[in-house]
Formats: sequence, structure tokens, C-alpha cells
Amino acid sequence: MEYKKIKITFVCLGNICRSPAAESVFQKFVDNKGLSDNFEIDSCGLISYHQGESPDDRMISTLNRHGYKTNHRAKKITQKDFLENDYIICMDNNNYRELNQICPQGNNHKIHKISEFFPENVVLDSVPDPYYGDQRDFERVINLLESCLENIFFALGVQTPHAKN
Ligand code: 4NP
Repeated sequence: MEYKKIKITFVCLGNICRSPAAESVFQKFVDNKGLSDNFEIDSCGLISYHQGESPDDRMISTLNRHGYKTNHRAKKITQKDFLENDYIICMDNNNYRELNQICPQGNNHKIHKISEFFPENVVLDSVPDPYYGDQRDFERVINLLESCLENIFFALGVQTPHAKN
């Protein structure tokens, strides 16, 4: 049987902290469910400043400490990404505004803020940018990302096997 993969890209500003972390955390979540073949998971940024770079060392070490790995290289979102992905999940309100401005017509419905998927006890409206922060801010990124995994998964309405239509 042929399956249509669900394509998701996570987006932040630089694509070296939050969104590559989201990619790794969500990838492991679906791997653990045995659903790797149902998904194509990626991440990108809104600026090209860090193009080609590995994630920030502080993000890599925090990911590793929590049992995640990454070999992502930073890249800026393209028009093709909007067309090819089913879900574009961004980290904060600025990301959301910018994505909606550059989105090709008819694709805005794909854009989501990750805070839509936070559990009720989380009062934040973003995954705050840890770039100018300290270790606690990097830990918070992982905690927030992990807190919304089930809600993202539920919202995707994944049926297994995901039928091709
Ligand atoms: P990210 O963090 O958006 O989570 O990857 C940032 C990384 C770099 C910059 C800003 C935010 N920067 O301005 O270079």
C-alpha cells in the first residue's frame, strides 16, 4: 500500500535553536510510535544569516542531554516550502506575522503558531527565543516542545496507515 506522507516544517527566526530542536523532538516522537514512514519533518528559518550552519552548540548539548540528536543545517524558508508542506508550525508571533506576509496565496491555512498546541497550564504565547539567554532558556525550549507533542499529533489527525488520497 502507498502512503501519503504528512509534511511538516518547523520555523523560527535563525533556524539554529528552536526550530531544529522542534524537528528533532517531533522526529523522535514519531519514531517512537513507529510512524517515521508517515512523516517528513524538517525545519527552516526566516533569515539566511546562519545558512548552512549546524544548530547552536548550546541547543545541541541541551538536545543531547535530553536524548535527542540533530544533524540539521540551517536554511531559509522558500516559496516551495509553503507549497510542499502540509503544516508550517512557527515559534512566536513575529514568525507568524512574517510567514503570513511571504506565504504564496492560498497556503496561509498551513501556518500555525506552536502555542496553539500548548497544554492548558502553559500561559506563554510562544517558545521564547533562547539565543541571548542562558542554559535555563535552552532547557525551557525542550520542555515546551515536549509539552505540545501529543496535541500536535492529535491535531494532525493521523490515521495509521495514512491513506493516500
Ligand atoms: P532561533 O534563535 O530563531 O531559535 O534559531 C535565533 C538564532 C539566531 C538569531 C536570532 C534567533 N540571530 O539573530 O542571529
